[in-house]
Amino acid sequence: MTLTTATPTAPALQLPPATELKSEILRLKREKDAVLLAHYYQDSEIQDLADHLGDSLQLAQAAKKATQKVICFCGVHFMAETAKILNPDKTVIVPDMNAGCSLADACPPEQLAAWKAKHPEYKVVAYINCSAGVKALCDIICTSSNAERVVRSFPAETPILFVPDRNLGGYLMKKLNRPMKLWQGTCIVHETFSERKIVDLKVAHPEAEFIAHPECEPTVLRHADFIGSTSALLGYVAKSPKQAFIVGTETGILHQMKKAAPSKTFIAGPFEGEEKCACNQCPHMKLNTLEKLWLCLKTLKPTLEMSPELIEKARIPLERMLALG
Ligand code: 13P
Ligand code: SF4
Repeated sequence: MTLTTATPTAPALQLPPATELKSEILRLKREKDAVLLAHYYQDSEIQDLADHLGDSLQLAQAAKKATQKVICFCGVHFMAETAKILNPDKTVIVPDMNAGCSLADACPPEQLAAWKAKHPEYKVVAYINCSAGVKALCDIICTSSNAERVVRSFPAETPILFVPDRNLGGYLMKKLNRPMKLWQGTCIVHETFSERKIVDLKVAHPEAEFIAHPECEPTVLRHADFIGSTSALLGYVAKSPKQAFIVGTETGILHQMKKAAPSKTFIAGPFEGEEKCACNQCPHMKLNTLEKLWLCLKTLKPTLEMSPELIEKARIPLERMLALG
């Protein structure tokens, strides 16, 4: 199989034989002085090659600590941007630069700027699943791991605009008993879980606990026995005395759940519609493949480029979050 680089004029490169692909990736990683960061929603074979595997917060923390010259980010665009903001002098590459995010797409910076202008007295808390342009406009970033702590860091009387995830925002409002104005973005994966089918599964598996990511709709979250970020869900299944779990998040996490608790049973959360639909897989995350990973390490492309001005503005709210822990 041949793959072309991002430059149309560059010669096609010959992929190593399938049996050597993984060892070649590991060799290139050393040769190019690259660290490989991967999110839990990546394909299992990419997860197994990563130097650091984690949720959005853990990966941002790993990026900040990176000592290598190159950061190869197996995740989506906003995650790689975060790594670049924290490491302006490093080369940041992504196997497929088209790996976007419906939440980031839902909140264009110009629209947020207009909303902010209408509410000048409000502080803006942005979920990390947003573009650098949005980060540059907000007061602080949060992830699903630290969102409660971040919102609590503002005095109760401080009014907050929460962007771009209305489901995480709504979950926080309820949990913290705190009103916020919410941007109406959603994750295309988590919004598709079916309440009716989750209830059917719970009836069919009364021994199982239903665990869910806070990006799910409130109609689904109300049936959850535990709600948390990907790393919190992973920690929960490892510690819980229960033996079976219905998992309401992207299926990539099941790989680590099975490793952490090999004797337990994991049932992927279901959707309405076609039996064979793969709606519980993020189409953006799954754009990254082993072949593209090899190619991007080989060529150090595609490279993520950002203006120094944007990096500087977006760095401030990110550093505020990292300082909170
Ligand atoms: P976390 O891994 O931070 O929970 O985020 C989930 C997600 O949807 C990432 O895009
Ligand atoms: Fe974005 Fe949802 Fe994919 Fe995460 S799973 S990258 S929130 S579209």
